[in-house]
Amino acid sequence: MDKFRIKGGKALRGTVEISGAKNSALPAMAAALLTAEKVTLHNVPKVRDLITMAKLLAFMDAKVSVTEVPASDYLIEAPTLNHAEAPYELVKTMRASILTLGPLMARLGMARVSLPGGCAIGARPVDLHLKALEQMGVEISTSHGYIEARASKRRLKGAHIVFEKITVTGTENILMAAALAEGETVLENSAREPEVTDLVALLRKMGAKIEGEGTSTLRIRGVKKLHGTEHTVIPDRIETGTFLVAGAITGGDLTIKNCAPEHLGAVIAKMQQAGVPIETVNKTTLRVRGAQKLVGSDMTTEEYPGFATDMQAQYMALATQAEGTSVITETIFENRYLHASEMIRMGANISVDGRRAVVRGPAQLSGTTVQASDLRASAGLVLAGLVASGETFIDRVYHIDRGYEGIVEKLQGVGAHIERVHALAS
Ligand code: EPZ
Repeated sequence: MDKFRIKGGKALRGTVEISGAKNSALPAMAAALLTAEKVTLHNVPKVRDLITMAKLLAFMDAKVSVTEVPASDYLIEAPTLNHAEAPYELVKTMRASILTLGPLMARLGMARVSLPGGCAIGARPVDLHLKALEQMGVEISTSHGYIEARASKRRLKGAHIVFEKITVTGTENILMAAALAEGETVLENSAREPEVTDLVALLRKMGAKIEGEGTSTLRIRGVKKLHGTEHTVIPDRIETGTFLVAGAITGGDLTIKNCAPEHLGAVIAKMQQAGVPIETVNKTTLRVRGAQKLVGSDMTTEEYPGFATDMQAQYMALATQAEGTSVITETIFENRYLHASEMIRMGANISVDGRRAVVRGPAQLSGTTVQASDLRASAGLVLAGLVASGETFIDRVYHIDRGYEGIVEKLQGVGAHIERVHALAS
């Protein structure tokens, strides 16, 4: 298993380019199952989760081809779908496989999808996805770890759905299911994330009738057929946020290109409150520099447009270097502080109590070997390693490869002493 070796203490300077958003490309690929025609996706990040999704679609008999140079374009064509199944072997490596359930139900009226188990950050049930599909006329049973879903009629029926809780992939799944349903679906308390809005943009290009993206109420008038199209995936706002923290925490000066500043309102505001100078250079470029004085600032994660939970670990790393106390409250996932104990091993002053973590700073971090537990925790540990004295080794970096394209090369490009160490097969 690869690991990263980081020698901390270097101020990062220069320009970094942001890749396409993993959490937008995943539902976009699943949406290609809704039509027999070709869907071309541009700006798809070269990360492992997208390769897993490509394997999953191919398992269902969709034709998936990828062009690598200059950026990765995915060409997906599903004239027929003979295997309406998402097998455990693939789903266990990527929960987002659940995003094929809605399109399969809409297109074929049946699906067998492995239940995604829990993950490091929480139980993460999919009950809200299933309840909503049941309202659309789907009979659902679960057995042997699989969701068996069958539509009572040829087409799903529109419904008035109120999500008990805001769910991103739940909203995306029902959006795709409703696009080919009979009649209108109203989705209340739906997610407003930019990735949901990007999916609506793609579905509209395919011929779907949708209103309300970016608000809590989506209206979808089902159509009989959807057609092929071309779509460019939005930039990754979490990768952007991660590099904002990298520039700030190392006291450097980074220009971040190909990003969407408007998708990071809450993150930028919070970092500026902590004393970090961040400038919007233009519509696709941000500039971040080290703070004169970094001060502790409380932060609560929320659904969009609030502070993203996927930026919590990175913010915690920054808070370890801030003067005073930062109280972090994680409202989305029940177990998302695994990175805290690893940062404490590096010398951070953090106390965790349930969903609250109190970070006192500044702390002089020192390099050691730490374990990555999930995608964003790994990013938080990389940031801590960039300011720690001496060398930090991060184990199990396969987590970070799931969602960050070329993070080692991008950091080296702005002066970081980081390298990937390929562990010899034992
Ligand atoms: C999406 O996950 C993202 N993944 C996650 O990013 C992100 O952390 C999360 O949204 C929140 O922003 C993708 O887009 C592929 P939710 P998702 O359903 O859709 C509970 C990353 O690092 N819930 O919005 O799975 C759930 O347990 C990943 O890139 C139910 O109870 O998250 C959680 O507490 C990690 N029942 C809350 O709702 C359900 O049926 C929000 O989860 C669905 C969700």
